[in-house]
Amino acid sequence: MWVLGIESSCDETGVALVRAEGPGLPGLAAHALYSQVSMHAAYGGVVPELASRDHIRRILPLTGEVMARAGCTLTQVDVVAYTRGPGLAGALLVGAGVACALGAALGKPVIGVHHLEGHLLSPFLSDDAPEFPFVALLVSGGHTQLMRVEGVGRYALLGETIDDAAGEAFDKSAKLLGLGYPGGPALSRLAQDGDAQAFKLPRPLLHSGDLDFSFAGLKTAVLTQCKKLGDTLPDRRADLAASTEAAIVEVLVKKSVAALDSTGLTRLVVAGGVGANRSLRAQLNAACARRGVRVHYPQLELCTDNGAMIAMAAAMRLQSGVQQAHTDYAFDVRPRWPLHALAS
Ligand code: KG4
Ligand code: ZN
Repeated sequence: MWVLGIESSCDETGVALVRAEGPGLPGLAAHALYSQVSMHAAYGGVVPELASRDHIRRILPLTGEVMARAGCTLTQVDVVAYTRGPGLAGALLVGAGVACALGAALGKPVIGVHHLEGHLLSPFLSDDAPEFPFVALLVSGGHTQLMRVEGVGRYALLGETIDDAAGEAFDKSAKLLGLGYPGGPALSRLAQDGDAQAFKLPRPLLHSGDLDFSFAGLKTAVLTQCKKLGDTLPDRRADLAASTEAAIVEVLVKKSVAALDSTGLTRLVVAGGVGANRSLRAQLNAACARRGVRVHYPQLELCTDNGAMIAMAAAMRLQSGVQQAHTDYAFDVRPRWPLHALAS
């Protein structure tokens, strides 16, 4: 079974082809990605209307690229998958519309996928695929959640952010430091030259006793430091970046460990854009090694949004029988859609 996946929930257009044969894990045949980051950078953040228009321009050429790389033709595709939500409504509608039009033209069924389930299952595309059950730390630009994952479609929420997401904390702090959009990777690069102890920044909800997060106060603390530093900010940017990254990473690591302790599970899956952060990976690896816990990540290039994770999630849902593809080609999108509300 060949599954074509289309991702268009935010500012990356991703298309991929995944092959699922028998009971084994599906494998990635080819994928292609176009990032709109440079287009949105001028505005300091994603402009939804521009994002939608650009997805329209990119999806079909990227699909052609994927088919050529995989040495396939569209007629060989068995199912067309697309991101149904959460994300920007207009951007989602482009992907859903193209996927359903393709499905109708090819006479093949279509399936809508949850974007976060894509992130969650993306480590199954790596050479070191996890086994169920596991704790998942989902850290993206819009979400920060700890989930207990029993199997495909069986997700229980353990804790989540009550305000900003971890990626948002990286991006907003980076903006305050004048690092542009999206700031997470830039802040992380700058942090390598800084002293993480230089500024005492809050670790919100660190000792709350539950598995929830809060990052809005951290951004305010970074703003206060920027104001205090005034003209001397340029000389201290690396120290402030390192201190900010350390605060975010410490909370993510401590809460992940608490989730492992409270569930008794011995596997951790880290997914979403912030999962590409080197300091987070190093500290999670160290904390988990001490506990005999195995940590699984997606390949670095599949940490941020991509089509491969959408094709993979669709293939795994179809394989495990939790969802069927359909041929009525009627579609809707779900800009707000909690992962734990996903019917299994
Ligand atoms: O999963 P993703 O690509 O998109 C969403 O679904 O939101 O995550 C994007 C987020 C952004 O906030 C970006 O700044 C952050 O992931 N990010 C990073 C790094 N790479 C991406 N944050 C910290 N360090 C990184 N290396
Ligand atoms: Zn994402």
